[in-house]
Amino acid sequence: MKRAVTPGTFDPITYGHLDVITRASQLMDEVIVAVAASSGKSPLFTLEERAELARQATRHLPNVRVEPFEGLLVDFARQQEAQVLVKGLRAITDFEYEFQMAALNYQLATELETIFIMSPPQYMYLSSSIVRELASLGSSVDPFVPPHVARALESKFANR
Ligand code: PNS
Repeated sequence: MKRAVTPGTFDPITYGHLDVITRASQLMDEVIVAVAASSGKSPLFTLEERAELARQATRHLPNVRVEPFEGLLVDFARQQEAQVLVKGLRAITDFEYEFQMAALNYQLATELETIFIMSPPQYMYLSSSIVRELASLGSSVDPFVPPHVARALESKFANR
């Protein structure tokens, strides 16, 4: 049984994240989408909101479940008895940061393997922060996120 964790802040989940999660679900027996509290990043959506948006977005994938977590990723992965961490890689700009995290996680838990899935060209430039910025400026985000996420962004910014 190969169980993978795909971690992130998912503030909010985008089609780029979904692409990585979907491809991971085709490679692994089970995928846990681990939604990090990331309180240092002062997320737009609460942890429960981010997890719920991710849950709705992955409902059609039978071997995927979503779990919020706080604390160290390696502790969460061990608790879930996962063997693999799956991360998405977009442009080369992601590499330094991801390389650092993979090295640190390896130091903390040598039994956990980090693997990377390359984003397809259409999602290379896509990030949650770009989506938040577009939505905050009143632009449509329909090409980048599922409809329920677009609605959640709209109402978040309408209430600000
Ligand atoms: O989507 P993000 O914000 O780039 O994801 C970063 C995330 C959540 C994967 C990373 O910050 C993380 O693993 N946070 C949990 C705390 C932790 O384990 N920190 C040390 C990682 S090197």
